[in-house]
Amino acid sequence: MLKKQLCFFLILQLCSVIQLKAQSKSAEGLKDYYKNYFPIGVAVSAHDIKDTAEVKLILHEFNSLTPENAMKMAPIHPEENRYYWKDADAIVAFAQANGLRVRGHNLCWHEQTPPWLFKGADGKQVTKDVLLKRLKDHITTVVNRYKGKIYAWDVVNEAIDDDSTKFLRNSLWYQICGEDFIAKAFEYAHEADPKAILFYNDYNTERPEKRERVYRLLKKLVDAGVPINAVGIQAHWSLDEPSQQDLIATIKKFSSLGLKVQVTELDISIYPWEKNKRTLRPGETDAYTPELEKKQDEKYAEVFKVFRDYKNVISGVTFWNISDKRTWLDDYPVEGRKNYPLLFDQQLQRKKAYWSVVDFKQ
Ligand code: GLA
Repeated sequence: MLKKQLCFFLILQLCSVIQLKAQSKSAEGLKDYYKNYFPIGVAVSAHDIKDTAEVKLILHEFNSLTPENAMKMAPIHPEENRYYWKDADAIVAFAQANGLRVRGHNLCWHEQTPPWLFKGADGKQVTKDVLLKRLKDHITTVVNRYKGKIYAWDVVNEAIDDDSTKFLRNSLWYQICGEDFIAKAFEYAHEADPKAILFYNDYNTERPEKRERVYRLLKKLVDAGVPINAVGIQAHWSLDEPSQQDLIATIKKFSSLGLKVQVTELDISIYPWEKNKRTLRPGETDAYTPELEKKQDEKYAEVFKVFRDYKNVISGVTFWNISDKRTWLDDYPVEGRKNYPLLFDQQLQRKKAYWSVVDFKQ
């Protein structure tokens, strides 16, 4: 009888230990699991930080924010003599109030530019001198406003051409200024806030042809003494890209220049990478099957293992959007197609991939 009672007591004890463990697991967020590695961030809109369910999740899981769109040139500087600060200010204030760091995104990009930027009052394209002056005014004003509150800036975004046989993208920035606009953007940002960590940020950087071209640009900047400190691997990935080998090669190659590396816009699409807009093809579905979920789970586990292995050079990992409830990949580039690229589902619950990312034994 005594033996039976003892057994029962031991089982009870064991159960409560297991329960406690499970509770303490869910009490931790991504930022806690990764506290000895790097900050874990998320891209947000001003709306995201007003919604209580999202706010709770953000504060539980993340310790860094990137404004998804609010600091891009078109939204923040819609007219030459007018800035729109409301959304950007709200995100920075929210971060400050809750002790989160902020990455600024971005200062110079060929997309989401305001209509006035490349044109003079006569409607003609501006000269290089005028455009560089506008760039300087923009960067100085924006960086100054958030000095001491934004610790890192994506200074130049996506300056490499999509065509693998070409080097720099033939954007209006390039057509008007030649390649000078890149170095100048870094100089202006550094002048405005010498303490900010300055990034070049781009996508598909794990593909060998793109990696080489990004490296060529970075090396040129570093050799010329341009104040660049780090490189952002955007990481808009998919189920079969990048390979572990290509990811490691990119991290090693970029960091060999003495630059820090951050994963700045992570998501793992359940579809292969494509860029041109189109509509759904007949018979094409957007079902999130268990098989796709499993593959995504494995990919997440694989890339986070690499991030942990290279924690000495990786200084941050940021997800691009909070949950599968809303992602920029819905309808992009395929109209009418839903995507499921993140660690939280449409009800903001942790997906299987979440548990793989925080399981360091894998
Ligand atoms: C690029 C930009 C981001 C964002 C994504 C799509 O990666 O750097 O700001 O626009 O495209 O959301």
